[in-house]
Amino acid sequence: MPPSLFNLTGKVIVVTGATGTLTGSVADYLASQGARVAYLGRNQAKLDDALAKVRSISPAAEVLAVVADVNDRASLERARDAVLAKWGRIDALLNGAGGNQPGATIMPGKTFADLDFSAFEQVVDLNLHGTVLPTLVFTPVFLASKSASIVNYSSTAVARAITRGVGYSAAKAAVDNFTRWLAVDFGRHTQGGVRVNALVPGFFLGDQNRRLLTNEDGSLTERGQTICRQTPFGRFGTPDELHGAIHFLVSDASKFVTGTTVVVDGGFGAFSGV
Ligand SMILES: NC(=O)c1ccc[n+]([C@@H]2O[C@H](COP(=O)([O-])OP(=O)(O)OC[C@H]3O[C@@H](n4cnc5c(N)ncnc54)[C@H](O)[C@@H]3O)[C@@H](O)[C@H]2O)c1
Repeated sequence: MPPSLFNLTGKVIVVTGATGTLTGSVADYLASQGARVAYLGRNQAKLDDALAKVRSISPAAEVLAVVADVNDRASLERARDAVLAKWGRIDALLNGAGGNQPGATIMPGKTFADLDFSAFEQVVDLNLHGTVLPTLVFTPVFLASKSASIVNYSSTAVARAITRGVGYSAAKAAVDNFTRWLAVDFGRHTQGGVRVNALVPGFFLGDQNRRLLTNEDGSLTERGQTICRQTPFGRFGTPDELHGAIHFLVSDASKFVTGTTVVVDGGFGAFSGV
């Protein structure tokens, strides 16, 4: 039988922000599929917990934890070198670290005039620069091997305006543009060997948005209800529902796919709301 297009055995995959809700779930899944997964995160204790968890689920998992901040070049270089020292290659980079913060969000009753500009800058720093910098640090490896898949994390807040998250939306929009730009550049310089795509998760409950979307008793807030009404599937996604899209993007099944976005949103982006 020919090898499966979706075979991940032995592929070395680096995940930034790997102790997060969506990123951690994807990292654990990839390890369960035979990939060698490097978990990058800022906090050693959280990384230790993540590795203990994945090993309890998949005892044969080949995993590595490295402390790295996506805005700190030296720590990313150390992480890159640690992954190369252990496995000698890097096949994929998932730029998962990202998120919002309260100051860069316009709360009810406020206007754009109330924006905390330094919070806006921090959100751009994390989501945009925190995608560009790790990619830059790993690029010499990808140019040398002429083979890799880079997956950036975008958002449904790019295609249409979603109230409140002005900094987050702007930064993720720039991530989409960077994805296309880099796909063209890598495509031309590596004859299609290095691909760059973005994942567009819809609404998934996580540590960052749980308090915004659900009440303490688990019922939906008004905003949570609005989102579910706007989603044809009528609910939030669950982290495991991103696994298939990521599996596709890091595997040979997507060999001719670059510069695009894969939307996983239960139909949110397709629905006019009427
Ligand atoms: N949850 C959703 O509904 C949703 C929707 C669309 C897009 N996204 C995006 O998906 C990605 C993962 O989201 P999540 O829900 O898992 O978020 P999360 O907050 O659970 O995980 C993000 C991780 O990034 C880490 N991080 C933050 N700053 C960092 C830094 N400077 N260096 C390294 N790591 C850092 C955090 O500690 C956290 O572990 C993010 O980019 C997010 O913006 C999430």
